Amino acid sequence: MKNIGLVFGLVTVVAFVQAQDVYHERWRPQIHFSPKAHWMNDPNGMVYFKGIYHLFFQYYPDSSVWGPMHWGHAVSTDLMHWEEQPIALYPDSLGYIFSGSAVVDERNTSGFATKPGDTALVAIYTQHDPVGAAQGRKDFQNQSIAYSLDNGKTWVKYAGNPVLRNPGETDFRDPKVFWNAAGREWIMVLAVKDHVEFYGSPDLKAWRKKGEFGKDKGAHGGVWECPDLFPISDDHGHSTWMLIVNINPGGPNGGSATQYFLGDFDGRKFVPSTAGVRWLDYGPDEYAGVTWSNLGGDRRVFLGWMSNWLYGQRMPTAPWRSANTLPRDLQLEQVGDSLYVKSIPVGELNQLASRPAQNRKFPASISKPAEIRFHTTNHTSFGLVFFNAAGDSVVVGYDEADRRYYIDRRHAGVSMGPDFDRIYTAPRISQDSLIRCTVFLDASSVELYADGCLTVMTALVFPTQPYNRVTLRPKYAHIAEGVSLQQLMDIHN
Ligand code: FRU
Repeated sequence: MKNIGLVFGLVTVVAFVQAQDVYHERWRPQIHFSPKAHWMNDPNGMVYFKGIYHLFFQYYPDSSVWGPMHWGHAVSTDLMHWEEQPIALYPDSLGYIFSGSAVVDERNTSGFATKPGDTALVAIYTQHDPVGAAQGRKDFQNQSIAYSLDNGKTWVKYAGNPVLRNPGETDFRDPKVFWNAAGREWIMVLAVKDHVEFYGSPDLKAWRKKGEFGKDKGAHGGVWECPDLFPISDDHGHSTWMLIVNINPGGPNGGSATQYFLGDFDGRKFVPSTAGVRWLDYGPDEYAGVTWSNLGGDRRVFLGWMSNWLYGQRMPTAPWRSANTLPRDLQLEQVGDSLYVKSIPVGELNQLASRPAQNRKFPASISKPAEIRFHTTNHTSFGLVFFNAAGDSVVVGYDEADRRYYIDRRHAGVSMGPDFDRIYTAPRISQDSLIRCTVFLDASSVELYADGCLTVMTALVFPTQPYNRVTLRPKYAHIAEGVSLQQLMDIHN
């Protein structure tokens, strides 16, 4: 009997230790969403409904590298604490479930809600047929839909899939759908190799092409993927349209990145008002970012996959691979005579603050995750250095000579490969005399939000032991005032 008690005791202890270890493994993000296990890429189908933020994601539950894609699912009431749910969509005879979006069909245009009081959530996604692709066909990506009548818990695929057939384009994917109040119809923006196409529908089932944009606009160093399109207002209530287009490769620092355009959209044509190429995040590790549907009001919350197709499948984490960026509120800002978009970490993050931010001198001790804010009035170059006793360091800084911010991960820890242990840079967009920076450190990432979030950079880092100290180069004295350092509570508590 005694022994049995001992065995049960041990089993309980082992179970307890295991439960404690999940989400606290080496390099496990503590303020960013990551799946409990296995491979994740793009965020998908983000929709807010009845007080719940739904996050679906490209997921391969059988391995830690990319494979036959499913839609994983997680829910949150605050964009910070996530609960993973059963897989929402499995591959079927039409193919893998690639990226897409979800909408609330309030007017029951689809007819999927059959009982009074029911509201259908409808997911619109690409089906990628691996057999057709292997046979060298061109039409292996088509758009399908599925609906949920239980608030996103379970999904039924529409019997008439696919709803939008491929006209013979090898890259024809990642539908983002929204209700266009002005035209009283659904609009789908779809990525087609080197441009986006706009389709209209009364019921989410029948789609008709309305226009296209981008063959000769923006960056073209890679294939266009995961677009998004929505109105966004400035402080004076003036509204413009924002078009997001992810591109891979061809980002400002190599590989995957997110570009955007501002302009007018009349239901068929997008006419840009911004010239040249704009990036939402200049770092190497934000991709496939799009925004939540149905938030109401003017709020636009953006979330990206925190990795890069150049090396994402080789990152040293286990049993999961990949996390998302912090969710970011998109807002407009006038700089000189041009409008730009700021990506501001959502206010919901403040609830993770363990105690009021403390003013500190450098060097300071830290334990991840941490948020550091400071500003400087004299335009000297500086570098905020996170380091540990093993000699690893990552530097987040500013170089006055060429007016560029940078993240230097040459000596960050475990090598990401000779081409990626390097310095990544981003232009300073702001013309302010004050330089303000907020930096978030998590177990395997740093994010820089400079100048009120006009210049943003995200980078993965894999220190051989956690960075537990931070300092500022050349010296604390160069920073005029306003240093605050805050330890954040992790979201898995
Ligand atoms: C972007 C992407 C999408 C595609 C998905 C497949 O990262 O390539 O274009 O739908 O990933 O997993």
